Amino acid sequence: MAKIAYEYFKVDPWKVIEEGFNPKRNKVSESIFSLGNEYMGVRGYIDEGASCDSLLGSYFNGIYENGVDHNASHYKGIVTNTHFMVNSVNWLFTKIYVDGDLLDINKANIKDFKRVLDFKTGDLTRSFSLITKTGKVVKFTFRRFLSMKTPNYGYQNFKIESNDDVEVKMDLGLDFSILQWGKNNYWNILKHDFNEKFAGFIGKTITTNQLVFSGYELESNTQLNSIPFTVGKIVGHHLNFTVLKNQAVFINKKVTNLVVKNNEINHETLWIIGLNKLENQNKYDIEFNDNIKYWDSVWSNFDIEIVGDDKNQQGIRFCIFQLQQTYHGVDESNNIGAKGLTGEAYSGHAFWDTETYCLPYFIFNNPNAARNLLMFRYNTLEQARKRAIDLDCKGACYPIATLNGNEACTLWQHASLQFQPSTAVAYGVWHYVKNTHDQAFLYNYGLEMLVEISRFMLTRGQWNAKHTKFGYYAVMGPDEFQMMVNHNCYTNYMAKKTLEYTIEVLSDYKSVDYEKYQELTSKLNITDQEINDYVDCAKAMYIPVDKDTLLYEQHEGFFDLPHIDVDSIPVEDFPLYSHWSYDRIYRNDMIKQPDVLMFMFLHNQDFDKETKLANYNYYEPRCIHESSLSPSIHSIFAAELDKVDEAVKFFGFATRMDIDDYNRNAHEGLHTTSIAAAWVNIVYGFGGFRSDGQDLVLNPIIPNMWKQYSFKFKYFGSLITVKVNRENIEITCDGKTVDMLVYNHKYHVGKEKLVLPVKNKRD
Ligand code: BGC
Repeated sequence: MAKIAYEYFKVDPWKVIEEGFNPKRNKVSESIFSLGNEYMGVRGYIDEGASCDSLLGSYFNGIYENGVDHNASHYKGIVTNTHFMVNSVNWLFTKIYVDGDLLDINKANIKDFKRVLDFKTGDLTRSFSLITKTGKVVKFTFRRFLSMKTPNYGYQNFKIESNDDVEVKMDLGLDFSILQWGKNNYWNILKHDFNEKFAGFIGKTITTNQLVFSGYELESNTQLNSIPFTVGKIVGHHLNFTVLKNQAVFINKKVTNLVVKNNEINHETLWIIGLNKLENQNKYDIEFNDNIKYWDSVWSNFDIEIVGDDKNQQGIRFCIFQLQQTYHGVDESNNIGAKGLTGEAYSGHAFWDTETYCLPYFIFNNPNAARNLLMFRYNTLEQARKRAIDLDCKGACYPIATLNGNEACTLWQHASLQFQPSTAVAYGVWHYVKNTHDQAFLYNYGLEMLVEISRFMLTRGQWNAKHTKFGYYAVMGPDEFQMMVNHNCYTNYMAKKTLEYTIEVLSDYKSVDYEKYQELTSKLNITDQEINDYVDCAKAMYIPVDKDTLLYEQHEGFFDLPHIDVDSIPVEDFPLYSHWSYDRIYRNDMIKQPDVLMFMFLHNQDFDKETKLANYNYYEPRCIHESSLSPSIHSIFAAELDKVDEAVKFFGFATRMDIDDYNRNAHEGLHTTSIAAAWVNIVYGFGGFRSDGQDLVLNPIIPNMWKQYSFKFKYFGSLITVKVNRENIEITCDGKTVDMLVYNHKYHVGKEKLVLPVKNKRD
């Protein structure tokens, strides 16, 4: 795991700060300084543009285009029609001329460049001073933020000051002419209009017919002499004014963006609604104060505080900030892309990462958001049903990568062989219901998904020739370095759990509400025979384990694979996908990411410490952590297995993966789902939090580098704060008393603070 930090940003507990403009780092900065509010996301690009490498990205959650992968083979079940998040309107469109010269900070003489992202306000500020050819010093300050309260609203604000009178021309506007991947534009313009202060636009995607309204109003403390214009797919205003010596000019641009994802309304109606929203849009300061209140409540409820480690303190707050910006449960039709709304890598798709890595954060901070994430899967059940049919099976097969519920992955080995998204949805339902007791969700929505997933797992699974074991042939588990294997232990184990849970919920429902149970079984056509099949297959599910060594075999035959010492692979060979022929990675026992350890993490309390230790000791040395989702799980196990130094080592880049650009690909966008894994790493790893068993468990340890840390979570409406210092742990509960197992003893944590000596070794 030779990953090296690129330390570029200033360390600060509540901000990310960049000092000095470095064009080579611009794309990374654009990702880091991304803003989002779930509804939309915008990279931290230079408003006025700069002649350096840039990915000018402005996205809306669920706005996508269709595409065809002509290279994909055309066998049945192999996906050729794909879809991807489409780069949308640049509502920050700006050009600036100072005394006649175009401002391009990559070429101009500038000083004191600074970009600051503030986690307490959610605003991005960028400032610098331009020294003109005639020696005037003109200071520019750009600010932008997205409203967290009304997600349609965005704000852009300029302040221009000069030590001498200076003539400024600006073009401000909305630009739908952005090229996706530098190649294609996917927008048709349906309507535009403007007056002296206002401009509005409606764009429509080419094949999906989705609509985006964007409109703005300008306000200033000076006469802007504005002339509206439209050219190509840009609409805006030419502004022409003088900045007088020592008299700052302010310009505010408040922007309303509104999307129509599924033809709910036509563009004329959208126009009227859009204008109305714009008219009611608060001024900058009012909305800004509301944003401060929003972030204040986030930090009072979800903050993780680390004393004695400024870098991880900044890192984890950056993670929470970015995760919260990406998703907080506004809308059931949204999901969490692997890169969130910060870039086009992974095409904006959501993966199984949502239910396995992100869901815990939401279950324990914002259960309504967790429910909405699961509702996304319920609302896309139809597409999953179709996919199962494509694969010659029954039930529902959830996609490996998607924005709209359809499978978007054109790599057949993933789309047709990996079933962890389906079992992850079942796991998500189970995990959510277990920790919220939301029976209404379970019976109205969850159970239907469970049945359809079980049905898929039943029909995709097979009996061996002797009819003694049931399992999955020709599959790929989470470890993507082993393709077309039989009895992948993860798949078998998670399928067994899915079937067992479905049987349990069906039986509970039958006794809780027989009438409704009958309605559901007849709607889904479930027969007693089918339920008996679930029972038989779950019982016969083959879980390859060696009773002597306690080792679970990742798949049948894994233990016989040729061994490769992963430490002997030269650093220059990484990333392997670029340096090794594709099939070579499959020819040995090297793994990309946890597979056996992954199901042991998800169902942690099914396994004893000895078994976890044996499997950790076997699989960790074979893992190259090619996926950024990998180290956190290993860190959690290392912490549980009293290997604190190793836990710290794997945690090393969790919170700062993107800030320090460990994978050298932060320019493509943030690793949003790994950001969730960083939260999981602290809470489940060092906090020893477990939520998969009978009781809620806490077993905190404290790494040497920390003087103190604390985290919070919500549990059945109570807010629990866990503070760990070098001597003690303190647990406080704001709300109803909560039962939990702390260091193997049961406590009722109520108004009175629970204080216990910290144990750095687990019993
Ligand atoms: C990992 C997958 C993951 C995907 C998106 C891949 O590299 O192997 O497990 O779902 O990235 O994060």
